[in-house]
Amino acid sequence: MTGNVALSQALSYARDLKSAYEAARSREQDLVEANDRLRKGYQQSLQYAVDLRRTYRQLQRAIFQSLLGLANALEAKDTYTSGHSSRVARLSRELGLAAGLSRQVAETVAQAGLLHDLGKIAIPEAILTKGGPLTSEEWDVMRRHPIVSAQIVAPLEFFDQGAVILRHHHERYDGSGYPDGLRGDQIPVGARIVAIADVYDALTSDRPYRRRLPHGEAVRHLQQEGGATLDGRLVDLFVELFGGAGAVRRDDSRAAGRPV
Ligand SMILES: [Fe+2]
Repeated sequence: MTGNVALSQALSYARDLKSAYEAARSREQDLVEANDRLRKGYQQSLQYAVDLRRTYRQLQRAIFQSLLGLANALEAKDTYTSGHSSRVARLSRELGLAAGLSRQVAETVAQAGLLHDLGKIAIPEAILTKGGPLTSEEWDVMRRHPIVSAQIVAPLEFFDQGAVILRHHHERYDGSGYPDGLRGDQIPVGARIVAIADVYDALTSDRPYRRRLPHGEAVRHLQQEGGATLDGRLVDLFVELFGGAGAVRRDDSRAAGRPV
């Protein structure tokens, strides 16, 4: 009798052990599945993050293209500025590469060349296209355009270095420029490059109140300004690159605006 009780208890323990074992295995399986779901969820959220980042970049590029369109539209309104930005961009890219900038940085400088005067959109047309000299109040308005240009592109994270160039493209090497009166190497190199291209293209373009200068005279003017209002080393490089007669190809025979 006692033997039967012991056997029955042993069987009962064995059954309990078996069900405990099966419960543990089932929990382990649940854990493996939960872990698998977590891993898949993690991978999916990583993929979402990559997709979101790609979409964000595409959106920023689309905004950038819209701004380029806006800059072109702004130029197209005025025959005296037509084609100016694209010429400044091309000269800036080539000068930047010759100065040892990486291809990527030179491209940012070129893009800044395309957008440098975008802030002129905030300037009344009467001032922008005025034939004669500007009053000091009108100059004050005109001198705000680098800040406005930089403000317009400020939301574009990938173009933060470009925004800096836009802000400083009218600084002068001797500190007499605007908006911040930076001097020498305080001025970002991209802004010093765009400034040279901007001045050259303005000099060799018709303006409402004067005909354009021939290439040779414009180059001599740049050389006079080298070390004064323009970076002398970069001017030397510009002359090396483009100094020969007709070395600078123009996209058209017209016009660009005053370099303000
Ligand atoms: Fe400008």
